[in-house]
Amino acid sequence: MKKEDFKTCSQSGFCQRNRAYADDAVSAGSGFQSPYSIIQDSIQFNHNSKNSHVKAEIENTDTKVIFTLDVTLLQDNTARVRINEKSPLKPRYDDHAKYTLHQDPITVAPQHMEKDTKTGVVTVILDDSRKLIITPEPFKMAFLVNDSPIITLNDRGFFNFEHLRTKENHVPKMIKQTNDEGVMEEQQSELENTMWEETFKSWTDPKPNGPESIALDISFNGFSHVYGIPEHASSLSLKETRGGDNAYTEPYRLYNTDVFEYALDSPTSLYGAVPFMTAHRKDISAGVFWMNPSETWIDITKDKSEKNTIHKILDFGKKSSDNDDTTTQTHWISEAGVLDLFVFFGPTTKDVLRQYTTLTGAPALPQMFAIGYHQCRWNYINEKDVLDVDSKFDENDIPYDVIWLDIEYTDDKKYFTWDQAKFPNPIEMEKQLDHKGRQLVVIVDPHIKRAHNYRICDEAIKDKHFVQQPSGGDYEAWCWPGQSSWVDFFNPKARNWWKSEFTFEKFAGTRENVHLWNDMNEPAIFNGPEITMQKEMIHHDNWEHRVLHNLYSLLSHGATTDGIRERTAIQKRPFVLARGFYSGVQRYGPVWTGDNMANWEALTFTNPMVLTNGMGGVPFSGADIPGFFNNPTPELLVRWYQTGVFQPFFRAHAHIDTKRREPYLLDEPHKSLTRAAIRERYALLPYWYSLFYDTYKNGTPMMRPMFMEFPQDENLFAMEDQFMLGEAILVKPITKEDATSTEIYFSGDQPWYDMKTYERTLHTGLKTVEAPLEKIPAYYRGGFIVPRRERIRRSSAAMKLDPFTLIIALDRKSMAQGTLYIDDGETYDFQQGSYAHTGFYYNRGTLNCAPLHNDVASPAATSFAESMKLLRVERIHVLGLKKKPSHVRLISNNDDQPQNLPFEYDDSNSSLMIRDPASSVTECGWTITIE
Ligand code: NOJ
Repeated sequence: MKKEDFKTCSQSGFCQRNRAYADDAVSAGSGFQSPYSIIQDSIQFNHNSKNSHVKAEIENTDTKVIFTLDVTLLQDNTARVRINEKSPLKPRYDDHAKYTLHQDPITVAPQHMEKDTKTGVVTVILDDSRKLIITPEPFKMAFLVNDSPIITLNDRGFFNFEHLRTKENHVPKMIKQTNDEGVMEEQQSELENTMWEETFKSWTDPKPNGPESIALDISFNGFSHVYGIPEHASSLSLKETRGGDNAYTEPYRLYNTDVFEYALDSPTSLYGAVPFMTAHRKDISAGVFWMNPSETWIDITKDKSEKNTIHKILDFGKKSSDNDDTTTQTHWISEAGVLDLFVFFGPTTKDVLRQYTTLTGAPALPQMFAIGYHQCRWNYINEKDVLDVDSKFDENDIPYDVIWLDIEYTDDKKYFTWDQAKFPNPIEMEKQLDHKGRQLVVIVDPHIKRAHNYRICDEAIKDKHFVQQPSGGDYEAWCWPGQSSWVDFFNPKARNWWKSEFTFEKFAGTRENVHLWNDMNEPAIFNGPEITMQKEMIHHDNWEHRVLHNLYSLLSHGATTDGIRERTAIQKRPFVLARGFYSGVQRYGPVWTGDNMANWEALTFTNPMVLTNGMGGVPFSGADIPGFFNNPTPELLVRWYQTGVFQPFFRAHAHIDTKRREPYLLDEPHKSLTRAAIRERYALLPYWYSLFYDTYKNGTPMMRPMFMEFPQDENLFAMEDQFMLGEAILVKPITKEDATSTEIYFSGDQPWYDMKTYERTLHTGLKTVEAPLEKIPAYYRGGFIVPRRERIRRSSAAMKLDPFTLIIALDRKSMAQGTLYIDDGETYDFQQGSYAHTGFYYNRGTLNCAPLHNDVASPAATSFAESMKLLRVERIHVLGLKKKPSHVRLISNNDDQPQNLPFEYDDSNSSLMIRDPASSVTECGWTITIE
């Protein structure tokens, strides 16, 4: 990575000012008091049965500027805090919510609200265990659970809201300094130099509005670990950034951009930005969402001292005795906008994620093909190449669902066109893929080549769809096509126009099995500052790019997704992959971790990066397999595929300069091992799809950190090299060269079963296990049932009517349960009830099932169940069955005669295999007994 291309905090004026502000507060110690105070007479409770606001005015007692505070309680243990200038010189950007939030948040009334008439302290009681306290002088807030403050705002006094001002009225900050003659004199602070204009490399940012940043300290009291705020190539448990063990020296940065050969283990910003953080400790999780799309920096420190905040703020409540004294202190610094903060009370990590996705939108349920294997490369060069790759997969018995075309398929990088010489008849090619149930994804980036007689460009110029320069006229810069302009997705007309370009009439050469890839949507600009757009460029309604930068990614992704959805009369769930992202992206589609390297370190980092995306409410993500740049060794390639099987988005991709590396090109044993890995992915598709449905319902990521399933086990709080896939599968990907064994940490007191040998492990803590190249260390968790499909097919479409295998991994009490979700795998009919959701229950020798559909008797549910009733279980493996049964019987409701089922028992691993019980997975009413 070229570090010098990207700013450090000290090269970013507002970051530097706010860090200095914090340093002054810390060095003044008890002599420092935040200048922000609530004007006590202004406190109002607007309260009715549905709605309640605490409103007040906050004064900066130094500048006398007045701010408005608005605190609301929302459904599901969530609170919102908004602060804006009362009378700004001009409006500050506050349009972010309409793009970021899925709907207007639903407010609720508290149990009780009161103001202490003497002190002005406001107490808002949510329920018996939760409350919120606002102290007026200085302004602070605390969020308490059982009288213990879990989250506090402005406790360290770093709250700083730079009001809009004119240069003429600005009172510069003066500091005392000794001059060259050794005389003390008052000088303008150096921090003033970047307030009205700022230079970075050859770029000058004119900053017409001057300083307008917002900063706040947020403390997580009694928490040693915080997570989230993707996207960084960093650890799962976020590191300290201002001193401490193994700390970074820079804050975590959220500023979407294209970082060439990005560094690993770094807080540098990458392609995506989600300002959402969760803290976890043994008894509770809680989170915050700092809804601000402008450039943002976050400092993290962990205060382990005796006198840390938790003691200082005892007036907010009592300290919780059960937890350590560490307080994770965070300092959030954004360049512009308003303060709009959500606080989530949890109490579990899964609750926090549900609370966040209730606000920002449910993760989309993808089409089935989207979770199969994707074969991408920059570039498959022509139709023959595409069809050749396609048939080689079949010849080599390797399943795959989607083949991808990168930028070279276009005519001279003019998106929505085809290179006629290389792709003279794309529809025919697509039909051939479709014939095998396969899909094609093509790339379309948000930069549009400035070219004559290019319809897209001509229309965009004519109708003013491009981002504008401050002086007027289309913004122009460089990207893949050379001189280009960028679509202004903030302009509703431009958005609608963009959406309409995906109809089959307009995007000639596409049909229903063609889907989309939006790359470079940070936006990446080769000759822009920090490889992105100048902040002074102008969007619809005259907003500077500065105030909404990170939202650009979200809006471009959203417009394409809407376009793809709306191109057919019967809407299908769109598939659009994007690189740049912001909060809310989960509503649209997957993202990936961008241009990684084909090396072991990069493979290692895929786990914390994808886990962190999940913790940031972005469950559907993955990394380029087996590394984008450079050529992987066969061993690295195999290990990368084996890892990808268990990560949500499973796509191979390669830079244009790399050697071909489609799995069928490998020599043995690597070819067979890669084939086996891909087949394992396909076998697990029913489990994956059921997990995706759960994620759509409640926001819990499919791939989840260990601590999410074992929240009490502190050994797991920073563990990132192994993870859970749903509740039922533990995975420890091998990311080290030449490994033949690995250490796995088993938590809880239930047995685990090796996914291949079914061997049972009853072990708590670390254990060394064999991990030769042919092995992916992965375990079924005792107490759970996993549905699989074992028949080898060429794509997920070909598996649609295949029977299922159930893996029943028994717990210590010989019990287990699991679910299976099925729908048509492509339309939105499931939202009308056309799906089957079945729970399987095993209880000491008896297996049966029950529908989990929330309206099982509805016509949609019954007709779907009826249409799929022939979908059956063809095999059952019961793992951990202590002794060989004498009979296995199937009892059906419709038939009172029990039927004996053939079975095999394996003494060596205590597993039972039941053959072809033929029980339906959509119509319950059967029982299998093991006697
Ligand atoms: C950058 C993307 O990250 C990469 O995946 C793609 O191949 C190139 N752009 C070319 O489109």
